[in-house]
Amino acid sequence: MMRGVVLAGGLGSRLFPLTKVTNKHLLPVYDRPMIYYPLQTLANAGIDEVMLVTGGNSAGDFLRLLGNGKEFGLKRLNYTYQEGEGGIADALRLAEHFADGEPVCVMLGDNIIEGNIVAAARSFRQQEKGAKILLKEVKDPQRFGVPVLEGQRVVKIEEKPASPRSSYAVTGVYFYDAAVFDIIKTLKPSGRGELEITDVNNAYIAAGTLTWDVLQGWWTDAGTIESLYLANQLVSRTGANKLDGVE
Ligand code: DAU
Repeated sequence: MMRGVVLAGGLGSRLFPLTKVTNKHLLPVYDRPMIYYPLQTLANAGIDEVMLVTGGNSAGDFLRLLGNGKEFGLKRLNYTYQEGEGGIADALRLAEHFADGEPVCVMLGDNIIEGNIVAAARSFRQQEKGAKILLKEVKDPQRFGVPVLEGQRVVKIEEKPASPRSSYAVTGVYFYDAAVFDIIKTLKPSGRGELEITDVNNAYIAAGTLTWDVLQGWWTDAGTIESLYLANQLVSRTGANKLDGVE
């Protein structure tokens, strides 16, 4: 059974002073704390065993807020704590024991989607091995991981390239087989001192086992003042995590 991992560590320094005393993922996005959105996305896709990786400020507040995850229909909600801000892949590393050899769906705690990942989860369940990423066309790809496409093939992903080679962003929803934890052990910190999820995805590309889909409906992160403001507007206008009308 596929398990879910929500990554909610990091210091949220791009949102200072909003994140000076609290955790980014506890900030409101319209009518709910940010962390509700990725948890609901996983629950809606039938992923009911989830590990929340947190870190930085107010980590204990997640337990008070989310409890055992019953409100989301989760069977099991586990918690762990990332020391420092070693990067997305460093945070994922902490879920190895929880994954217990099963495939995982990883979602960044500051990503919010209009629709759902039901179809992508179904197709990954049939993939047997490797990884799947979800792409979304955006106006500002230089803020994200950007795929280099040759026809239908993603040949490489570049992290925040000054000159993006496509108009797609790699969204923060990733599907991995259990090999992901071995890949993470081979990574070296990047220029910004982090273990990069883009390097994980490039390892799957090198192995020829990365597939991709385009995410339907709007997608945004909420990790900068501009994108947090946009996320509030999008949710207030259309709502998030819709289950119908997107497949
Ligand atoms: O939003 C999608 C983008 O997320 C991707 O396109 C990029 O390839 C990927 O690197 C990432 O980019 P950001 O630089 O925007 O990621 P950020 O540092 O904002 O971290 C996103 C989430 O990951 C954050 O909300 C919590 C989690 N995280 C991040 C770090 C650095 C952790 O749990 N631990 C960490 O150490």
